[in-house]
Order: sequence, then C-alpha cells, then structure tokens
Amino acid sequence: MSLNLENLFPVETDIPEAYALEGPLDQRSYLSNGDMLTWSGDVHTVLSPICVKTKKGLERKLIGTYPLCGEKEAQIALDAAVAAYNNGRGEWPTMSVAQRIDCVEKFTRDIMAKKDEVVKLIMWEIGKTYGDSVKEFDRTIEYINATIDALKDIDRKSAGFTIEQGIVAQIRRSPLGVVLCMGPFNYPLNETFTTLIPALIMGNTILFKPPKHGTLLFYPLLKAFRDNFPKGVVNTIYGRGNKIIPGLMESGKINVLTLIGSSKVADQLKKMHPKVNRLRAILGLDAKNAAIITANADLNLAVKETVLGALSFNGQRCTALKIIFVHKKQVDQFVKDLSEEVAKLKFGMPWEAGVSLTPLPEPQKPAYLKELIEDAAAKGAQVVNPNGGEAKESFVYPAVVYPVTKEMKLYTEEQFGPVIPVVTFDDIEEPINYLIESTHGQQVSIFSNDPTEVAALIDPIVNQVSRVNINCQCQRGPDVFPFTGRKDSAEGTLSVVDALRAFSIRSLVATKLNDNNKHLLNEIIDGNNSNFLSTKYLF
Ligand code: G3H
Repeated sequence: MSLNLENLFPVETDIPEAYALEGPLDQRSYLSNGDMLTWSGDVHTVLSPICVKTKKGLERKLIGTYPLCGEKEAQIALDAAVAAYNNGRGEWPTMSVAQRIDCVEKFTRDIMAKKDEVVKLIMWEIGKTYGDSVKEFDRTIEYINATIDALKDIDRKSAGFTIEQGIVAQIRRSPLGVVLCMGPFNYPLNETFTTLIPALIMGNTILFKPPKHGTLLFYPLLKAFRDNFPKGVVNTIYGRGNKIIPGLMESGKINVLTLIGSSKVADQLKKMHPKVNRLRAILGLDAKNAAIITANADLNLAVKETVLGALSFNGQRCTALKIIFVHKKQVDQFVKDLSEEVAKLKFGMPWEAGVSLTPLPEPQKPAYLKELIEDAAAKGAQVVNPNGGEAKESFVYPAVVYPVTKEMKLYTEEQFGPVIPVVTFDDIEEPINYLIESTHGQQVSIFSNDPTEVAALIDPIVNQVSRVNINCQCQRGPDVFPFTGRKDSAEGTLSVVDALRAFSIRSLVATKLNDNNKHLLNEIIDGNNSNFLSTKYLF
C-alpha cells in the first residue's frame, strides 16, 4: 500500500500559527567591520524543504532572501579581521581573559533572547523537527557556557609560574590570528558555534560564512556580535563559496581554516593558501560509520540503535550509521525487524508531534538517493522495507537496502540521507577489512554481548577510527568527549577543552631567576601592567 504522500505537505492555511514564520525574511544587511552594511546587489532566494500545496501543484515555500556578496565585500571583511587582530596587538587579542569572557557572556544573553526566532528558522530552512531545532539551540548555549568554564579553568592553571633549572616562566595560551569559519547545514547553529566561539574567546578574529542551507537563522544574531565585540572582531561573509572563499585563502592572511563539510572542499581550500605551514586547519569532514552486528548481538537493541543511528534527522548527521554489517546467522531476522521498526516512525511536517522523518533541504538529494538505490538494485540488492525509497518532492521515505555488496555505490559513498545499506558477513575479518580500506575513519558501533569477541574487536578497530561505540549508535556527544576522526574524516580534535587548544598556541614568558629579574617580574605584576604576565585568579 502506498504512503499517500500526496497529503504529506500542507496548504498554506494549514500551517499552525505557532510555527509559521511571520513572512519572508529579506536580509539586506550583513556585519562587516563593526557595522551592519546595507546590501543592494543580487540576493539568493531561500526555498524551504517544506512544500505547500498551491493551484500549480507543490511548491517549496519561499522563506526569504540573503545577500550574494562578491569578492570585494569578502576582501573588505578580511581586511577588517586583519586590522582588528593587528598582528596580535589589537584590542581583542590583547584583552584579558576575564574581559573576553565578559563579552561572550553578554553575547550569550543577547542571543538567548532570539531563541524563538532562530529555532523557527532552523526548522524552516533545513526541515529539522521543531523539538530537535530547540535542542540544537539549547545545546549551543550549554556549549558556550561549558566553554567559558573550561577557559576559566585553563586560565586558573596558567595564573602561576613554573620554575625549572633556574628559569622561571609563565605559560599561557595565545590566539593564532584570523580564523575563517564555515559550518555545515545539518547543525548550522551548533556546529558553527562549536568552532566559532572557542576561536573567538581565545582572542582570534573571525570571518564567518554561514552554510548554504541554514543561513537566515544567523541574521537575528548579527547585532549581538556587533554590540558585544570590538569592531572587526566578527565579520560575516555572504555569497557563493566558490566565488568568495578562494581569494581569501590565496591572500595568505587566513591563519586558521575551520570547516565542517566535505574533505574535497577542505583539500582544495588548503592548497590555495600560499604558505601552507602558516595555516592551521580544524576540520570535521566526511564519514561512513559502520555498525558491526555479530552473531552474539542482542538483535532487539541493535535494531533500535540502528534506527536511531541511521535515521535521526533523516540520516543527515556526519556521525550517522551509514553501513550496517550483520552476521549471516542474524541477518534475515535483523532485516525483518529493522523494516518493522522503520515502519513505526512517523513522517510529516517538522512541527507535528512525534514526527521524526521530514523533508530534506538539499534540492538534489532525492535524485541522488534514488540513483544509489537503483545502482544497488541493478547489482542484485533490493529495497526490503515496504514503501522504502518512495519520494515526493523534498521528502524521501527511508529505504533498507539488502544485500549490499562491494560493487555498489552504497558500499562506499556517503549517502547522508535516509537509506540504510545492510551487508552480510560470515568472517569478522570482512567488516574489519572494510574499515581498513575505507577512506573514512570517524566512528564504529559494535553490537555483541560476548566479552571475548568485543575485546578482540576493540584493539584493531581503535586504530582505524576515533571512537568505538559498544552496543549503541555513533554520536558526537557528550560535548566534553573528544570528537575527531582519522583519514578523510577530520583534522584536529574538537571537544569543549580541545577546541580551546585547537584555536590557540602556547606562549611563555621566561627569565633567569635572579634578584634583578625577580624584582622586575614583581613590579610588572604588582603594577598590573600586563594581561599576559599576571597572577590574577579568575573565579
Ligand atoms: O553532523 C555531525 C554531528 O557532529 C553529529 O552530532 O552525533 O550529536 O548528532 P551528533
């Protein structure tokens, strides 16, 4: 029986008032060098993944427009960030940690007042459920608060001196310079801020380009950046990435590239920098996390975690389970149970209570997923769940595809959507070899209740990926845990504390411990003349 997707999308008047946008948000200004500059050039039209029924048929709802600035505006923003950094002599990089924290706390208070607006825009721009959009906002605020606490802790530990071999030193963390920050569409607010905020609070100056989908939601926050940080410390750049980013990288003035996105793009951008050794890169990239379900797994649990891992936010998470290896003894039952579990998921509009499957924001994604399914079908696999792969405009119903084999695109390509490829294995070396040969290396989920078997898998696998999850799905959180990957999956490590380290470098002031220098240091400290050389304790 068909899903009757004809009735999936609402007519305009059926959109509940509480979740409707007041009207299209026509953004005509952006933050550069401390000012909200007015833009009168070309704009990008933002169409929501949520369609509405019209007389002409289904149409993606128009929710706003944003500036399509060019290279000139990007260069002006770059100059502003360079000037605000001023070779490390600017107001922001030389400010005390306490003062920087104060600015970020005020900024946080201001953005919290914008929560409702931002949450609705997340929902409309990327089709995330209302509940998950709220969670994304709240998790971001928690992340900022945890970052402040972690920085206080680092600063407290740096408030003293180290004496070694007759040398006395004070060691602190210093900023790196101008940071180019680009976040992903799937967690546009959260993942952008998990790099932007640590980079900012460590004293760097920022050039920030919002993701292609998930752009308007930053507009309500721009004034909070303008009002709480010195001029030029945070600058936005709007426009087509392939037009405006190359010039910035080629200028050689970017000190840190932080990007959550594709490894292909990161690779190209890094190569554009004329002094590669001067560029630090903090990257969260592609992943194809595997689940390995052995003959000793609790199948019920494995099915539930697979559904969560593969289909939360329609599979559009870098940490999603994107290929499932199941032992041949369990595979028939697994595929049957998985199909039944998928059928229990509610699909619909992001504001509907209990909904988990929603429309996809990337316009080309439904066609790509269809291509992956057709490729697998042509090579011997089948969609095994009822209605799997049925689609209407931006919506694709999840497809469980089995048996997936090496020759199929689904075996290696990151689908980043609601398709679950299931592979069967007899010998545990098969999934291990998959991990070895994979170009990705983020996480794995192992399902087994046999301690000998689990132990034997942990040791080889921790050297292939960066997190091994036992009897649970893959995920980034809790945010204090290190989040990284091997091969093409990441560069650098993010966590609340690691991010502060990633966006800074240790600097020290050292001298020989003699009476003259003791006197000199004491004078500087007592006179409160340096923000770096100081024993002030941050409570
Ligand atoms: O898109 C990748 C995100 O970092 C995943 O985060 O595991 O908390 O959903 P999550």
